[in-house]
Amino acid sequence: MINMPPMGLGTFRLKGEPLLATLTNGLELGYRHIDTAQIYDNEAEVGTVLTRSTVARHEIYLTTKVWTSEFGPGKVIPSLEVSLEKLGTDYLDLALIHWPSPKDEVPMAVYLEQLAEAKAQGLTREIGVSNFTVAQLKQAIEILGPSAIAHQQIEVHPLLQNRKVVEFCKAHCIAVTAYMPLAYGKVLSEPLLMEIGQRHGVSAAQVSLAWLLAQDMAVIPSSTKRENLAANLAALKVTLTAEEMAAIAALDRGERCANPDFAPDWD
Ligand SMILES: NC(=O)c1ccc[n+]([C@@H]2O[C@H](COP(=O)([O-])OP(=O)(O)OC[C@H]3O[C@@H](n4cnc5c(N)ncnc54)[C@H](OP(=O)(O)O)[C@@H]3O)[C@@H](O)[C@H]2O)c1
Repeated sequence: MINMPPMGLGTFRLKGEPLLATLTNGLELGYRHIDTAQIYDNEAEVGTVLTRSTVARHEIYLTTKVWTSEFGPGKVIPSLEVSLEKLGTDYLDLALIHWPSPKDEVPMAVYLEQLAEAKAQGLTREIGVSNFTVAQLKQAIEILGPSAIAHQQIEVHPLLQNRKVVEFCKAHCIAVTAYMPLAYGKVLSEPLLMEIGQRHGVSAAQVSLAWLLAQDMAVIPSSTKRENLAANLAALKVTLTAEEMAAIAALDRGERCANPDFAPDWD
């Protein structure tokens, strides 16, 4: 059993050859944290790679996310059992609620209590949420108690710093995973990040990841290219100065990449 490694492999949009390349290169390079989701429709392919890999299951931190269609009474646990079967394992490291129920169609207590029961039954070591606002996090804590929600996965990068939610999570000992940590490529051409990168001999992408890691967030960039996967892993060794951290903090433009029509009223 392991804690969440700070650098993970995102798998959104990836299937077939690009997914295989990502996972095999990633595992070879030393990634030990994989982020998937029921809605990505790639859990079975992830499972095939993991089953064939020489890396043992207990060395990998595996996250999946329960889709909103699986929130109703009696649905969360069977959906996680299907995920486990596809992933070829008998436990998850982390099961997340992918998005809060759109328009509260399913009351939060209904799906969160099932998620807690999944943990009690040993289907997952930890549970958490994703895309929850501060108000929703408060409600979740009221439902499950102060230490049940171990993680929240949200979009954070220099162009969307999501400070209110990040600070609330920190104050309540909820670990934050930054998804789309490269703003799906938008950070790559950001002049300040490029300039800071030049000083350190690294890319703007690596600066973005180093900035998130320095704030104790885990990051899950996705890449189909071995050289980018290696570069992202090398961001773990980049140390930014206090001045550089502060300069990047001033870049926040509230530029959100993931904003579907069923998203909550963001903070
Ligand atoms: N919880 C949620 O609701 C949610 C929502 C969205 C995403 N996520 C998770 O977060 C993960 C990451 O998000 P994302 O994949 O959408 O966006 P991202 O990681 O911010 O950006 C991925 C893009 O950046 C490129 N890239 C990666 N490393 C690079 C590098 N070192 N230099 C230059 N380009 C680089 C990739 O291209 P190449 O393939 O060419 O390298 C790809 O086009 C997802 O895969 C998923 O697991 C979760």
